[in-house]
Amino acid sequence: YNKMYISSTLFISLFIVGLCLTQTQAQGPASQVLALTGDPTQMRVSWYSLKKPKAPVVQYSLEAFEPSSSLQDNLAIASIEQYTEETWKGYSVTGVMDQLTPMTTYYYSVGDKATNLWSDLANFTTSPSFSNDTLVPYTFAIFGDMGVCTEEVQTVNNIVSRMDQLAFAVHIGDIAYADLNGLEPLVLGNQTVWNIFLEQIRPISSHIPYMTAIGNHDILNLESGIYRKTFNMPNSNQGVDTWYSYDYMGVHFVVVSTEHTYLANSTQHAWLENELRTYRAANPDGWLIMYAHRPVYCSAHFPWCEEDPMRYIYIDSVEYLYQQYNVDVYISGHSHVYERTLPVYKGEVRGTYDAPLAPVHLVVGTGGNQEGILHRWQDQPVWSSGVRLLEAGFGLMSVINSTNLHWQFIDDATNTVTDDIILTKGYFN
Ligand SMILES: *[C@@H]1O[C@H](CO)[C@@H](O)[C@H](O)[C@H]1NC(C)=O
Ligand SMILES: *[C@@H]1O[C@H](CO)[C@@H](O)[C@H](O)[C@H]1NC(C)=O
Ligand SMILES: *[C@@H]1O[C@H](CO)[C@@H](O)[C@H](O)[C@H]1NC(C)=O
Ligand SMILES: *[C@@H]1O[C@H](CO)[C@@H](O)[C@H](O)[C@H]1NC(C)=O
Ligand SMILES: *[C@@H]1O[C@H](CO)[C@@H](O)[C@H](O)[C@H]1NC(C)=O
Ligand SMILES: [Fe+2]
Repeated sequence: YNKMYISSTLFISLFIVGLCLTQTQAQGPASQVLALTGDPTQMRVSWYSLKKPKAPVVQYSLEAFEPSSSLQDNLAIASIEQYTEETWKGYSVTGVMDQLTPMTTYYYSVGDKATNLWSDLANFTTSPSFSNDTLVPYTFAIFGDMGVCTEEVQTVNNIVSRMDQLAFAVHIGDIAYADLNGLEPLVLGNQTVWNIFLEQIRPISSHIPYMTAIGNHDILNLESGIYRKTFNMPNSNQGVDTWYSYDYMGVHFVVVSTEHTYLANSTQHAWLENELRTYRAANPDGWLIMYAHRPVYCSAHFPWCEEDPMRYIYIDSVEYLYQQYNVDVYISGHSHVYERTLPVYKGEVRGTYDAPLAPVHLVVGTGGNQEGILHRWQDQPVWSSGVRLLEAGFGLMSVINSTNLHWQFIDDATNTVTDDIILTKGYFN
């Protein structure tokens, strides 16, 4: 983790107690995060630079290369944004590699043409099909609520151990917990924690797209600027919106911000309704998967799942859309447990896993963070499958074909499967 920046001259290493990682702050680039752009011929990479880069670019090539020796022909010009929070130093840099071809491995390095400071060479492989509609089997990893210095070290390692099988990873909000000092809230957030987190995920995020949703710990400041500058998601109005959608090899993904208003008169609600309606009208048989930080259904002893009136407002505002437009699966975090519902609408079980008549809900708030895994469950609701696990871990969703998804939950402590279910395509209405 800490063998980096051969070309840099200044190293400041911050050693954090216990399990934690060493942060290396250098003058050159740090923390590469790949992201899908919504156009499969492109790949975005974002990084962090303490010093303002003069001529930031991404070099990329079909062959491995030594970044500092000579510039590659393929260069993506990157844009830079200074952090505007007084307590945050440095620049967020982002560039888009384009004209990529399917099922091809690209080598890339990010850096500055002017100073000749570059990241280590990394690589990624494009998807086998660039058609939005053609379903090709693939697997992605998904989890929420991952911070630094606890079990998440296992989540990262366990995902890395399976990375050859993964198209991308999804972190469903509560990313780094940089808004906490211990358990005390910090309004502007702690950049040291944020940067350590980005180094921690680098083995994943430099190699496969790291897709995100915004969580309550990612607000950091009123505009969520730190989150939005680092995780620039597809079709999100240049990262201004924290809700977005994209297609990936026959599956349509719709991502909601549960941290911004979703009331019936809101911009997000209008977007969401239009988004779901337009997709479903054109794709009555397509897989429609949603992910968002907060659950619709959850049964842990936890305020959001018990007395918080906001959950009922969320349900009243949006659940009918998920039913009406046949959202097959809704995946969330926030509640630090794993649980799986039966197909459910308005609190009633509708259909079975073999013939669902409502969305199936999965909660994977299990990435691992300083708040820990929750301890207790409420009595089992009728809509619960009974599979409720108090363990850190993450989900693996495999798209099999037009009728089946294969879902697994991986327990971090053993890196083994502790829940396994085939989900079948349903027609709700
Ligand atoms: C591509 O990156 C992965 C993950 O970082 C690494 O394990 C692999 O060796 C790289 N492949 C090549 C051919 O360099
Ligand atoms: C896939 O859909 C996106 C918009 O959602 C569009 O920009 C892109 O051109 C489409 N790609 C193909 C191959 O149809
Ligand atoms: C930020 O986090 C670092 C690393 O945990 C810690 O040493 C530092 O005291 C924190 N700063 C604040 C203002 O909490
Ligand atoms: C939307 O409705 C809520 C309450 O129903 C109200 O408080 C808010 O002002 C409305 N917003 C707009 C933009 O009309
Ligand atoms: C999808 O895969 C399942 C399991 O392999 C199989 O039973 C089913 O017939 C397949 N469906 C289609 C449409 O190919
Ligand atoms: Fe949360």
